[in-house]
Amino acid sequence: MINLILFGPPGSGKGTQAARLVKRYGLVHISTGDLFRHEIGHSTPLGQQAKRYIEAGELVPDEVTIGMLRNKVEAHADAQGFIFDGFPRTVAQAQALDQLLAEKGTQVSALIALDVDEEEIVQRILKRGHTSGRPDDNDESIIRKRIAVYRRETEPVYAYYAAKGKAYKIDGIGTIEEIFARLCNVIDSLQPA
Ligand code: C5P
Ligand code: MG
Repeated sequence: MINLILFGPPGSGKGTQAARLVKRYGLVHISTGDLFRHEIGHSTPLGQQAKRYIEAGELVPDEVTIGMLRNKVEAHADAQGFIFDGFPRTVAQAQALDQLLAEKGTQVSALIALDVDEEEIVQRILKRGHTSGRPDDNDESIIRKRIAVYRRETEPVYAYYAAKGKAYKIDGIGTIEEIFARLCNVIDSLQPA
């Protein structure tokens, strides 16, 4: 299996690149943000629970997110591998992911971080907000909150995987094709997990 964590701040291009990587490598894409938005759109109990955190730019509690992720992974027992997008967002989520994959006899192959500076991502997210319809994309103070939460809660996940020799960083500025080529270079150098 190849299990990738596509990492980087909000607006760094994870979803855009994941869609292309799925086609090239035949992996299952799991975006926890998309899963939450689906639940919110259907007004499920999980959606109702997650909504206030997301609209405030805060993280949904780990146990809620980890439970949802576990269900999704287990629904794809025959997958050749996964692309995790927007997860893990905390070191506790990373530990839970490692445990879940270990139970399946596999592991994280690599975390690949898209490196994009803060002003660029604020501009990208505001632009995305015109079409995404996401309330959290349409308010600059919420966007800055999400970035601050990323720096505080999520960035340590990079060091967690770097300590295992699994973290890679690529330049996230350029055309979609240029960034895709950089990702493929890293992925093609990995050994199957
Ligand atoms: O990944 P994405 O940017 O689409 O996530 C949107 C929002 O969903 C985050 O700002 C956060 O409120 C919530 N989220 C979370 N935990 C995750 C993924 C997303 O709390 N692992
Ligand atoms: Mg996304």
